[in-house]
Amino acid sequence: MPFAHITGWGMHVPEPVLTNDDIAKLVETNDEWIRGRTGIRERHIARENEFPSTLGVEAALKALQVANLAPTELDLIICTSSSPEYIFPATACLIQDQIGATKAGAFDLLAACSGFIYATNMAAQAIRSGSIKNALVIGSETLSRFINWKDRNTCILFGDGAGAFVLQASDKPGGVLSAVMHSDGSGADLLTLPGGGSRYPATETTIHEGKHYVSMDGKEVFRFATRVMGHATQESLQLAGLTTNDIQWIIPHQANYRIIETAAKYLKLPMEKFVVNVDRYGNTSTASIPIATVEAIEGGKVKSGDKIVFVGFGAGLTWGAMTVEWTGPIEPKKTIYPQQYRLFARLRSWLRRALRFIEGIFFRRVCTQRLSGSERQKRTG
Ligand SMILES: CC(C)(COP(=O)(O)OP(=O)(O)OC[C@H]1O[C@@H](n2cnc3c(N)ncnc32)[C@H](O)[C@@H]1OP(=O)(O)O)[C@@H](O)C(=O)NCCC(=O)NCCS
Repeated sequence: MPFAHITGWGMHVPEPVLTNDDIAKLVETNDEWIRGRTGIRERHIARENEFPSTLGVEAALKALQVANLAPTELDLIICTSSSPEYIFPATACLIQDQIGATKAGAFDLLAACSGFIYATNMAAQAIRSGSIKNALVIGSETLSRFINWKDRNTCILFGDGAGAFVLQASDKPGGVLSAVMHSDGSGADLLTLPGGGSRYPATETTIHEGKHYVSMDGKEVFRFATRVMGHATQESLQLAGLTTNDIQWIIPHQANYRIIETAAKYLKLPMEKFVVNVDRYGNTSTASIPIATVEAIEGGKVKSGDKIVFVGFGAGLTWGAMTVEWTGPIEPKKTIYPQQYRLFARLRSWLRRALRFIEGIFFRRVCTQRLSGSERQKRTG
């Protein structure tokens, strides 16, 4: 059975930064309160022309560059997002088209902020089953579009951004060692974006009632998160046959510094073992774990051979953890420049649209001819 190694990683955040002081101009709050209760100082907010696919493409191309893998070599793309571009088509398909992943299957996976752990696990399982060799997992968010900037309970928390991993099959032991996934739908109402789905399709009333904004019971979500983070970490470690003594890093979902602190206390681990960057990005939902991972690698923290636990929680309710032996990029045979595939992808996409248009004209003409032929036959026969 092949092993699923994480061989590439990339992140991208939009440039504009919104500080706590900026938010204090919108709602009654202040920097001290936000930092004290959440650890967040600032977050990045997408510009009008940036979407989960645009941010996701940037993160994906960087991950492919690290893995030295051409987009055309990908077998599978899974995008996970709490703020997908559309209900359908999947954001993964938009990314597939923009990076020129010509032979990849693509789908979206929705497990809110636990999505990146779920999606990475699904990709790893597909690799381990032998059915695919190369997968791309992307977590990408523009949650700022679904935030009520008059609601101080939620508007202080979230930020936009994207992160991506490339997973590849290898005979060498290591890579994804274990994963656990959990859910409890009885808490579905604690963190939700009710509008725009088939229960509350967009109407004047749903918009008037603010159903298209994130709604959250902060206290309950906090209680749930502190209960599950430590436990899921231990479960995943146990499955991998390891203990907390064997791991170098825990990379948690970046929602709130105090939640991470509580998990550290539960696991009897110092905060130094935890990768934390919630102060600069806020909660970027599905993108938070890969963004923190990329920063930890680029900051020289995570090294080849390190054992790491990713752990997250989110709406659903969902939670999960994954234990990984970090390998880093597989030795390249030749250097690939995934950015160059972009132009080719744009051209290919344009040609396919043009071809579909021309085919459509022919198809309509043939149909009209057949229809008028059979009408003639009816009249004469
Ligand atoms: C949202 C959160 C920071 C609020 O912190 P808290 O300590 O639970 O605060 P509370 O909601 O109990 O509010 C305490 C007081 O501060 C006030 N308050 C709430 N938001 C405020 C803000 N942004 N600025 C100033 N005061 C605020 C409340 O009105 C309340 O005032 P009151 O005591 O006079 O009624 C915290 O509950 C949290 O982080 N929960 C988890 C959320 C999360 O991670 N969601 C994403 C999951 S993926």
